[in-house]
Amino acid sequence: MLATFSPHRARLPDGRAVVIRPARPADAAAVQAFVRWLSPLARRRRFLGALRELSPAQLDRLTRVEDPRELTLLALAGDGADATVVAMAQYALDDPSSAEFALVVADAWQGQGLGVRLLERMLARATAAGVRKMGGIVLADNAPMRALARRLGFDSAPDRDPLLVRVEKDLPARAPGAAPLALRVRSLRWWYWLATALLLAAALLGWPAGLPVTMGFVAVQAAHYVAREGALHAFPAQTRVAFLGLLAAGTWPPLAFLHWLQLAGTCASVAFDYCLLARAVSLLPWNRTGPFGLRRAWRTFASPPLRGSALGAVR
Ligand SMILES: CC(C)(COP(=O)(O)OP(=O)(O)OC[C@H]1O[C@@H](n2cnc3c(N)ncnc32)[C@H](O)[C@@H]1OP(=O)(O)O)[C@@H](O)C(=O)NCCC(=O)NCCS
Repeated sequence: MLATFSPHRARLPDGRAVVIRPARPADAAAVQAFVRWLSPLARRRRFLGALRELSPAQLDRLTRVEDPRELTLLALAGDGADATVVAMAQYALDDPSSAEFALVVADAWQGQGLGVRLLERMLARATAAGVRKMGGIVLADNAPMRALARRLGFDSAPDRDPLLVRVEKDLPARAPGAAPLALRVRSLRWWYWLATALLLAAALLGWPAGLPVTMGFVAVQAAHYVAREGALHAFPAQTRVAFLGLLAAGTWPPLAFLHWLQLAGTCASVAFDYCLLARAVSLLPWNRTGPFGLRRAWRTFASPPLRGSALGAVR
């Protein structure tokens, strides 16, 4: 996968761990606490002025991203209700193909590669969403950000305001459609779905142990994603749990047809990278950032496969 947007766990060189994931409206209080906790210098560099906290409108804009091509990424330390935001990056579209970004890492978390990680993930997501140019305004005396931008291939040019510089980077064009098979076979996800399809096909063709074995295998996948991403609600795990639920429902004879639909869906995922179930799961209230509507549903199911998780394609 070229970009993944379900929670991603990272261990920093000093041993501390963070989870990186898109912001949700429920994060508003944590984001506000993060901004208040920043040093005056970090706040000035991030917001280009004196600011103690975000206005309700700013907070809403950062945590309630409506356009599926825009993004606010958070790095969180700690678990559940105790999790604190330690870094935040976001981009918003200027026009359909160019976007403005900003980034800030809490003072006590700087120098651990978090800035690079966040910006790289953000650029991958923007590229997958079809953004072709990423720009940002940086204080001219902000050496760390200028060095970070240089390291990630941004060009820098003077702004009209001599106190500012503009950093800008062209992003590669996104190849339309699914990633080539040669790329997809390098991901574990592809092998998981292939093996699931084969086991389910064997079950439907009469192998007596086929269904329990398929269910066990899908449960193992869910456990693996929960462990890998350090979150019970890891998106690939949610998809496996939904798959498992359908497998269980299909054991009731009137719903046996569900297993055939699942086989067809799994084959489509393996062959075309189109996963109907993942798209449906992405519409669950805790996975989407805006209200449910026909437009969102249409975009979710009708958009071509993107190189990344279904969540990234449709949020
Ligand atoms: C700029 C900022 C995001 C960097 O985050 P970070 O997590 O500390 O950066 P990283 O650890 O990922 O460092 C990445 C690169 O940035 C540069 N860098 C980071 N801190 C630096 C410093 N104090 N001096 C010089 N270069 C620095 C280096 O090139 C570094 O690469 P290296 O470690 O291989 O030398 C962080 O300092 C910050 O939040 N500053 C305040 C807010 C801000 O300036 N935002 C920019 C507005 S868009």
